[in-house]
Amino acid sequence: MDHKLLSTGIPHKTLPDNYTRPESQRPNLSQVSDCEDVPVINLAAEDHSQILQQVSHACTHYGFFQVKNHGVSKKLTEEMQKVAQEFFKLPVEEKMKLYSDDPTKTLRLSTSFNVKKEEVHNWRDYLRLHCWPLEKYVPEWPSNPPSFKEIVSMYIKEVRELGFRIQELISESLGLEKDYLKNALRDQAQHMAVNYYPECPEPEMTYGLPGHTDPNALTILLQDLHVSGLQILKDGIWLAVKPQPDAFVINIGDQLQALSNGLYKSVWHRAVVNADKPRLSIASFLCPADSALISAPRRLTAEGSSAVYRDFTYPEYYKTFWSRNLDQEHCLELFKNQN
Ligand code: OGA
Ligand code: NI
Repeated sequence: MDHKLLSTGIPHKTLPDNYTRPESQRPNLSQVSDCEDVPVINLAAEDHSQILQQVSHACTHYGFFQVKNHGVSKKLTEEMQKVAQEFFKLPVEEKMKLYSDDPTKTLRLSTSFNVKKEEVHNWRDYLRLHCWPLEKYVPEWPSNPPSFKEIVSMYIKEVRELGFRIQELISESLGLEKDYLKNALRDQAQHMAVNYYPECPEPEMTYGLPGHTDPNALTILLQDLHVSGLQILKDGIWLAVKPQPDAFVINIGDQLQALSNGLYKSVWHRAVVNADKPRLSIASFLCPADSALISAPRRLTAEGSSAVYRDFTYPEYYKTFWSRNLDQEHCLELFKNQN
């Protein structure tokens, strides 16, 4: 096998050449800002219109926000993180049974991003699972650790409810019916990426994930509380997203940028690595049903503003996304109307 997992249990002493970025593409960690904070929104706040204003502001200017009092049980998030850690601690021979670099597989353990397409690799291993409907996908999930299927199933359900709640808030904040986005996205698929970024000998020369936007509709990320690494691009400056206790990081994906007719932004973000500690993050992705037409709402194209993007479906978009490198131009640019 050409491409191997990084999480072998033995720390790497040097960064291999095929992980080393040319000087012009390195993360420049000393220039990352942490003086500004990504908005934190309390979902249990009493003033609903204030929540909507916060959502609108965050989605317009950051494409990201964190949520607190989100309704997902603390015990469950802790169990989810624990079982994910245990998974990556399994012997490498055991993990290699699930290894694949074919992005069309519905369950696979892989490394970097798109190992067959890219020239420089990324300092990440990841387990990627299709999750919904549960009864279709749970049978193919790992049965080691033994509690994996049960814990992940419970986690998926609670996160899905949170995602729907946030889509309602996003709809309302755009002046649409509460159910607008949920209806437009139809019976949403749900995927999960369990990202494991091992400690890295040269964090200045490589990435866990280079700058990218998420191709799906909405992403719900559970970050490691003790090891930071997520950064977002705001006004040309990379900004560190400080982990908050008991919070999820939410971001707008490409599909919601299209469905908001470009008002809400699917923002560039990246994961950097560090020399001391491995970092774990768990990303849940809500995705449009294959049959859903991604098309700007009438309400947002009335009053003289025309549709920024042509109509498309998610399968069409996803094919384009995976045929590219992660760090090229925004994939949505390829779907712009020519006017
Ligand atoms: C992703 C992602 C960020 C992180 O999986 O798409 O952006 O902090 N992850 O792991
Ligand atoms: Ni992402």
